[in-house]
Amino acid sequence: MRMVDIIAKKRDGHTLTKAEIDFFIHGYTNEQIPDYQASALSMAIYFQGMTTEERVHLTMAMVESGDQIDLTDIEGVKVDKHSTGGVGDTTTLILAPLVATLGVPVAKMSGRGLGHTGGTIDKLESIAGFEVELDARTFNQLVNKNKVAVVGQSGNLTPADKKLYALRDVTATVNSIPLIASSIMSKKIASGADAIVLDVKTGSGAFMTELDGAKELAQAMVGIGNGAGRKTIAVISDMSQPLGKAIGNALEVKEALDTLRGQGPEDLTELCLTLGSHMVVLANKADSIEQAREQLKEVITSGRGIEKFKEFVVAQGGDPTMIDQPEKLPQASYQIEVRAKEAGVITAIDADEIGHAASMLGAGRLTKDAEIDLAVGLILKKKIGESVAKEEPLVIMHSNSHEVEEVEKRILAAYHIGEQVKEVPPLIYDVISNE
Ligand code: URA
Ligand code: CA
Repeated sequence: MRMVDIIAKKRDGHTLTKAEIDFFIHGYTNEQIPDYQASALSMAIYFQGMTTEERVHLTMAMVESGDQIDLTDIEGVKVDKHSTGGVGDTTTLILAPLVATLGVPVAKMSGRGLGHTGGTIDKLESIAGFEVELDARTFNQLVNKNKVAVVGQSGNLTPADKKLYALRDVTATVNSIPLIASSIMSKKIASGADAIVLDVKTGSGAFMTELDGAKELAQAMVGIGNGAGRKTIAVISDMSQPLGKAIGNALEVKEALDTLRGQGPEDLTELCLTLGSHMVVLANKADSIEQAREQLKEVITSGRGIEKFKEFVVAQGGDPTMIDQPEKLPQASYQIEVRAKEAGVITAIDADEIGHAASMLGAGRLTKDAEIDLAVGLILKKKIGESVAKEEPLVIMHSNSHEVEEVEKRILAAYHIGEQVKEVPPLIYDVISNE
């Protein structure tokens, strides 16, 4: 087999075989195929697309290019949740204990993240003592015992995807649905998931800003997951404004605790109930979405969810008093208000800009090894559709520095104030499944 023939075949719009895709991924991972041929093929895929079968083959070839997490010692259907990323997305911290309470095994491997805030692992580290490095045996035992454990990423998962993603980044081939979908799905499948619930975001703070693109990506990932024998569904949710009210690491932990106590923001609670009910059904712990939803609500109102979170924290060495007294979480030195310059109604909030503002305070990292400040971030006092008076606070900045003029400017520019909103965007646009 020759790489040049594979490139030509795709360039001319033909369908690649499993053997050809395996040859490419295997050769590229082992450095037998050079970057220039891999970039030519990526560009050909960018223009010609891929069938669902080709996407499944590409995904599985990337899964097989490195280590795969073995979760077979864990009882039950391991359902993973994945979000395509947004601003202030705290769902994992809430969903994990909620569905675990209903018996769904949550064996979560999570990253530190390069976003506007840290990843789930960083957020958990704002709880004193919380240990994110567990060996595989301990991890599996914890999930069997408590139904939930979270571990930091380790091992050499999907090296082919790492190489290819970096190459796509510098060859203008990131924005290809088959390549994005197989990249994301390869990581989920290599992490050992039996079933997957995807939260595909759309709007100003999302990777896919337009609804059509988000739907297409959701359909592509659902097609790959089901084609690879992992039951997969995708929820398309709004990211035209940040989710919930808190953006920051410790601030989001506090928000997650509030939500588990039934006192969280409405949008965050609703999204967790939606994603959670699909997880419960995929794990065969309820017969219908409606039934799962009622069960999840009961987990919140009965207090069983917050108890499960506490049990999970204790099991991984964390200080449980921080759950009852969230004021013990890292606190920033200053709380500074950003006040509206005019009266009106909030017509739009540029989520991505709000994320950048949080990142400027130190909530996120710009490079892989940068330190993040767990205490800092933003609390939104106003969301789309709400009225605001002149000089009323829009946002509270939690900062460890006095010098926040640039951050304040950015927040003011992100908030659009007008006379009335045309329409408040829906939280859930669609649910995509194969059925
Ligand atoms: N996120 C990924 O993991 N892969 C892509 O290709 C794009 C976004
Ligand atoms: Ca939030």
